[in-house]
Amino acid sequence: MTIQTPQVRIVEVGPRDGLQNIREKVPTPTKLALIQRLRDAGLRTIELTSVVSPRAIPQLADCRDVLGNSSVKALLQHDQAGLRFPVLVPNVKGLEIATQYGVKEIAVFISATEGFSKANINCSVEQGITRAREVAGLARKAGVVVRGYVSCIFADPYDGPTPEAAVLHCVTSLLDAGCYEVSLGDTLGVGSPANVRSLIQYLTSHGIPMEKLAGHFHDTYGQAVANIWEAYSCGMRVFDSSVSGLGGCPFAPGAKGNVASEDLVYMFQNAGISTGVDLAKLVQTGEWISQQLSQSNSSRAGKALSIKSQPKKNSSPTNIKSPNSSAKNTPFLEWTLISSPEGLHIHRNGSNLKITLNRPKNGNTLTSTMLTTLTETIQTANSDSLTTRIIITATGRFFCTGMDLGKGTSPVAQGGSASDTQFNRLTALFEAIDTSPKVTIAAMNGPAFGGGVGLAFACDIRLCTSTAGCTLSEVKLGLAPATISKYVVREWGVSFAREAMLSARSIGAEELAARGLVSGVGELEGLLDALLIRLKGCSPGGSRMSKELVKLAWVHGGREGQVSGIKGVFDEMMRADGEGAVGLKEFQAGRKMDWDAFVLGQGQAKAKL
Ligand code: HMG
Ligand code: MG
Repeated sequence: MTIQTPQVRIVEVGPRDGLQNIREKVPTPTKLALIQRLRDAGLRTIELTSVVSPRAIPQLADCRDVLGNSSVKALLQHDQAGLRFPVLVPNVKGLEIATQYGVKEIAVFISATEGFSKANINCSVEQGITRAREVAGLARKAGVVVRGYVSCIFADPYDGPTPEAAVLHCVTSLLDAGCYEVSLGDTLGVGSPANVRSLIQYLTSHGIPMEKLAGHFHDTYGQAVANIWEAYSCGMRVFDSSVSGLGGCPFAPGAKGNVASEDLVYMFQNAGISTGVDLAKLVQTGEWISQQLSQSNSSRAGKALSIKSQPKKNSSPTNIKSPNSSAKNTPFLEWTLISSPEGLHIHRNGSNLKITLNRPKNGNTLTSTMLTTLTETIQTANSDSLTTRIIITATGRFFCTGMDLGKGTSPVAQGGSASDTQFNRLTALFEAIDTSPKVTIAAMNGPAFGGGVGLAFACDIRLCTSTAGCTLSEVKLGLAPATISKYVVREWGVSFAREAMLSARSIGAEELAARGLVSGVGELEGLLDALLIRLKGCSPGGSRMSKELVKLAWVHGGREGQVSGIKGVFDEMMRADGEGAVGLKEFQAGRKMDWDAFVLGQGQAKAKL
């Protein structure tokens, strides 16, 4: 059979159907971030949430916060020209609330079967149709577009198999009520391609136009992708899906999530059928939301592609997996902006301080002012007892492309006192990081060049995206990686550092991981959250002493200075008033220590930054 290749439209229902059945509360910012990521991945129809009884679906009780958020408001303003952001509503109350927030498309839903109708919306099928008709009528009067769902197209959890005539009756009623299309919901995920073909043929032979139908397949029996392919072959072009296969309905016991958007896009992409979705970004989003929810990714294609995009297991020391590996459904970390001095953003989360280089248009090159501010910020954090970790990251495509070499702004090639001043500025910055008693982390969002490499390698730990890399490009300009060599040679080893300096070649994320120079490669936000959550269990004093031990080995390795230094650390850790005493007491009581809570509950009330 020759298959035409028109576009298919994907209706991403992850933020609604995907989340509605998750028991633990998903923080609103996670939902907002999910919507944004889905949009960034190219999805043009995203069901944002539902405005239903919070008693029926407590998970989506924050629908007003979602719809009222400025990022969603901005999307709703663009709900035109092919972008659609529907919201599920069961009744007039839901419609009224949704329209207050500027929603321009709603979805009404009925069941083809009595049992599920009663359980889900507390009324009979006919009452559901009447309610949907009323809501659709009012919506259309208000200029709001209406989509319809019919649930339980193949079977009902309480009533058993569904007669095709019952589905036809519901579809006809919804179209008559003014729905522009009706999504056929296999709520239980029990259907298989033979059922799909039979139902579609039945509906179309009874006068339902193919272009008015969409497919909504849950994947309980693993048939969803096959069902979609069958429906596509029958002429259907609109399909609902959910990133990472999230989903399920609390009123359809045992039913699994929707077909995974990644699996759908992969299937269509391989058939040359365009979806408009960036599969790589979608896969990252699927991995990210799975991490946020502490659940495994149900997308087979998503998991496979994600593994493929990571450095190989035997060549990578990537040891940081999930932000929530220890805590079920821990919210992702929220950062509060403290200040935005020139070229920087400074954020805080508990005892974590994050410094973000923010000159994306200039590749995050470091101006003289930025060097000074960075140094002062790090020095202040170093002496702040409420700060445990310092993270350096950046916005845009690059992590940091080194010193500002712009005409008239760079001290390079000026000689004399300009050279001394720049040397002192650079040395002060790298020393402030290197001698920090805090845990310092470089979260590399992209490639680093020259001084940017120094910034990353003066830090204790590095995480990076798969697009990140390091290039010691100085020799190309007739320069040398002078001030940073102290850190680069120490961390990279003499032979490799020499080769990298002399070749000025780009060392990619995979090689950095293989050489043990980065601790994690992948989706940076998730990696960083995972690391910071893990480090909550590590005491600041213990970390500081550990750093000291590493330094002693490096500076005095095998000599007297190392032995006497170790004795000093030993004495400190054995003190009765030290953190060791606190940690031991908690350990003996069988409790896990949250050192961030301990730090924040101590001493001065306010952080210095
Ligand atoms: P009810 O108890 O019969 O009606 O619920 P009610 O009018 O007496 O309302 C009960 C309470 O809910 C009242 O609050 C209302 O104010 C409140 P109380 O006075 O007790 O404090 N309420 C609302 N609150 C916010 N927004 C509203 C709203 N309406 C009432 N819109 C009702 C009837 C339909 C409201 C309820 O059963 C309900 O909300 N059901 C929705 C259940 C649901 O969302 N299920 C999942 C979606 S369907 C699905 O997943 C299938 C689909 O994906 C396709 C497929 O897979 O097949 C679409
Ligand atoms: Mg559903």
